[in-house]
Amino acid sequence: MRRLNRRQFLTLTTSSAATLLLAHCADQPQAQVNFDAETPTPAENPSSVRSSRIVEFDLEAQPSSVTLGDRTANLFTYNGQVPGPRLEARPGDTVRIRFTNRLSEPTNLHYHGLHIPPTGTADNIYLNIGSGQTFDYEFTLPTDHPAGTFFYHPHLHGRVADQVFRGLGGIFVVRGALDEIPEVKAAQEEFVFLKDFEVDSNGQVPNANPMQVMQGREGSIVTVNGKENPTFSLPTGGLLRLRMVNASTSRFYRLTLENHPLHLIATDAGAIAAPVELQEILLSPGERAEVLVQGNQPAGGYRLLNLPYDRGMMGMMGQRGMGGMGGMRGMGRMGGMSGNTAQTTPQVLATIQYSGSTTPLSLPQQLLPIADLPQPATARRIELSMGMSGMGRGRSGMGRAFLLNGKSYDHDRLDTTVRLDTVEEWEIANTGPMAMDHPFHLHVNPFQVISRNGQPEPYAAWKDTVLVRANETVRIRVPFRNYPGKTVYHCHILDHEDQGMMATIAMQA
Ligand code: C2O
Ligand code: CU
Ligand code: CU
Repeated sequence: MRRLNRRQFLTLTTSSAATLLLAHCADQPQAQVNFDAETPTPAENPSSVRSSRIVEFDLEAQPSSVTLGDRTANLFTYNGQVPGPRLEARPGDTVRIRFTNRLSEPTNLHYHGLHIPPTGTADNIYLNIGSGQTFDYEFTLPTDHPAGTFFYHPHLHGRVADQVFRGLGGIFVVRGALDEIPEVKAAQEEFVFLKDFEVDSNGQVPNANPMQVMQGREGSIVTVNGKENPTFSLPTGGLLRLRMVNASTSRFYRLTLENHPLHLIATDAGAIAAPVELQEILLSPGERAEVLVQGNQPAGGYRLLNLPYDRGMMGMMGQRGMGGMGGMRGMGRMGGMSGNTAQTTPQVLATIQYSGSTTPLSLPQQLLPIADLPQPATARRIELSMGMSGMGRGRSGMGRAFLLNGKSYDHDRLDTTVRLDTVEEWEIANTGPMAMDHPFHLHVNPFQVISRNGQPEPYAAWKDTVLVRANETVRIRVPFRNYPGKTVYHCHILDHEDQGMMATIAMQA
C-alpha cells in the first residue's frame, strides 16, 4: 500500500537535477494509517517539523557501465549511478531503504557517521545480503541528531575495499540546525564526493595486487561526483558551501582552492562552533569537511587542487618520499593502478568559475555550540601496527598483517566493552618502526579529538574518523550514547580494514 503510494508520489514529482533524491516525505504520525493524508508538504520548514516523517528510498547495487571521463567503465553502482543517489533525511525522521543486491556477490550497507543503532535493520554491518536478495533497512534518526554530511557504503568484511573501489558509495545528508543558520542557508550548496577509479583498456576494474593492498589501492582517475574536473559556479559577492566527502578506498586529499581560503564550518559529524579559516584541508578516507568559500576575488576560474601528501608509503619498502610513481593517469594506464601516493605535482579536482554577481553575503560569526565532554570514566590505549600475521605470513601474502592492539580482526572475538552513558578517553597510537598513516574510524558514536602528540586540538569538533599519522598518538574522547549492541572500529584505508585492522566493540546498557 505504502509503496504504491510512494511510487505515485514519485511519478508526480519533478526532482531538481542536482538532487538525486528519491524520497517520500509524509508529515504524519507513523502510527496513523491514513493513506489519503499521505501527501508531501511542499516547502517544509525543517525547524518546525519533527519526529513524524517517513522517508523512503530504493537502492539497488548493480553492475553498470558508466562513463568516466573519456572512457566507459564497468563499475558497481547504486541505481546505475556513480556516486549513488543522495539520500536526505532530517532529525526525527524514520528512514526506510529498500535495498536490492543485483551484484553476483554478497554485500550490505553501512551508514557511515550516523548515530543510529548498530543492530537489526539499522546500521548492522553483520548483515550479509546475498546476490538477488532484497532487504528493508529501517531506522529512526534521533531528534537531536546533528545535521551534517554522512555517507553510505558497503561493509561486508573482506569485500569492502573491492566493492568501494568498484564504485559503491553515496552521500547521506541530515538536514537540520546547521542548514538554518542564515548565512549558511544563503550559500549555494554543492557536494564534492571524492573518489578515485582505475579501469583497464577493456573498461574493467583491475584486481589489486598484494603490494597495492598493503599500501591501500589508489586509482589514477580522480573524480568529484563521478566527473573529472567538474565546474561549480560562484557569483561575485556570493558564498559557496562545499560539502566534501572522501569516499575513496585509500586515497588522501590535501585540498586547497587557488586564491581562496576555506572557511571550515563542519567536520565529520556536524557543525563546529564558529568558522575556522584554513588554507588547506587534509581529508583521509572516511573524513568529511564542509567549507564556505567567499566570492571576493577577481572574476575567473579557480582550481580546487589536491596537493602532494606523503602518507608514509611503507617505509619498509624504502619508498617513502620517492616521487613520480602515483597520481598520474599515464602511469596508471600503463602500469595498472598505482598503490603509491608519492604524487609530486598538484592534481586538479574541480574548478570554481565566477559567474554573475549578487549582493555581498557575509560569513556567519557563530555556528552551533559544541558540548564540552566530562572527564572520562575509562581510559584505553589502542595501538595501530603492522606485523607478522599469526600464520607467519600475512593475508596479503607478503608476510605482513594489519593489527589493532597486536591482533587481526576476528568476528568471534569481542575486543572492547563499554558502558552506555559513559565517556571514555582513547589513546590511539600508531606505532612501529615502519608505520604509515592510518585513519581511525569508530561506528555509531562520534567523538572529539583532544590532542595529537600531546598538543591540544586548536578547536573542538565532532569526528568519526581521525587521521593518526605515522608515529603519532592521538587522544579522543567518546560519549557512548543510546544504542546497545556490537559494532566495530577500524582503519578507513579499506584495504587495511579488510586485511584485519578492525576490532569489535560492544556497548552495554
Ligand atoms: Cu565508512 Cu566502518 O566505515
Ligand atoms: Cu563507518
Ligand atoms: Cu590503515
